[in-house]
Amino acid sequence: MKIGLIGAGKVGFSLGKLFVENGLPVAGYFSRTPGSAAEAAKFTGTHHFDTMQSLIEACDVLFLTVPDGSIGSVWAKIREFHLAGKLICHCSGSISSTVFCGIDECGAFGFSVHPLLAVSDRYGSYRKLPDALFTIEGSKARLSDVCALLSVCGCRFQVIEAKNKVRYHAAAVMASNLVVALTDCAIGLLSKCGFSDDDARAALSPLMRGNLDAVLEKGPAAALTGPIERGDIETVKKHLDALEEAPGIREVYRILSLRAAEVARSAHPQRDDTALLDLLKHCPEEGDEGKGFLQ
Ligand SMILES: NC(=O)c1ccc[n+]([C@@H]2O[C@H](COP(=O)([O-])OP(=O)(O)OC[C@H]3O[C@@H](n4cnc5c(N)ncnc54)[C@H](OP(=O)(O)O)[C@@H]3O)[C@@H](O)[C@H]2O)c1
Repeated sequence: MKIGLIGAGKVGFSLGKLFVENGLPVAGYFSRTPGSAAEAAKFTGTHHFDTMQSLIEACDVLFLTVPDGSIGSVWAKIREFHLAGKLICHCSGSISSTVFCGIDECGAFGFSVHPLLAVSDRYGSYRKLPDALFTIEGSKARLSDVCALLSVCGCRFQVIEAKNKVRYHAAAVMASNLVVALTDCAIGLLSKCGFSDDDARAALSPLMRGNLDAVLEKGPAAALTGPIERGDIETVKKHLDALEEAPGIREVYRILSLRAAEVARSAHPQRDDTALLDLLKHCPEEGDEGKGFLQ
């Protein structure tokens, strides 16, 4: 089955290279900017196509590796061509294969195929793709063909339902983007203690790396440490008082501490955490949310 990619960006480059490196037949690329397609073709040792139609005619499997906001419009264009029997995949985490409306009438089969990985580099990220888990969702009739493509490349995958895509993507955002936001809060607080940005990141590195290793290896209940885990309500109160100066960060601290208290409860079911929960359930003043976030 010949593979073609529409959209020569980070994921297009990386997936194409992964397929080629694993001996899969890749016809090549079409992209909005001809130079991007030419560059991807050079990188992968494949071809660049001047029109969508010529790429589509050369392929049995099409990956639409365009930004999420362009998947619908690209689909609207390609469905004008003869697609019978072809597999049409996009790589969005939050959009399902239902974006390919009318695909049954075209005789084609639609999928979303999402690598759970930050793909940041057109030339280097393909090396990390075999470590990533892919989620696949779409037409049951040809699902095994898409799974086989990934298996050949040594990639792990999990089949999910279309109705769970947004929930799944929210989980991915929490585990990656929101950890970045939380780290930014910590760096902001350390800068108020006199740390430079570089020193703050260096200081946080062993703490964050050790914590991440522990939570991924042992699970949240076994990995949790700190005042909430110890039931140290006085320290939590001092933190909340100190964060009065930055109400947005205080609110983040309060809400995540409530979740940490739930985790701690599963580790210490006998402990009375009523006072701690009362303290944390205190609502912020109206209009406080978001203000002073970076102070
Ligand atoms: N980056 C990640 O970490 C990541 C991870 C998992 C999944 N994804 C998903 O992968 C998909 C692609 O993301 P990306 O990060 O690779 O984006 P990207 O780096 O911005 O690349 C998108 C490419 O598509 C081309 N393009 C845009 N509109 C087009 C159109 N109408 N027709 C043809 N080509 C068009 C772009 O234009 P030019 O031809 O002008 O260069 C660009 O090369 C998205 O669905 C995204 O959600 C991304």
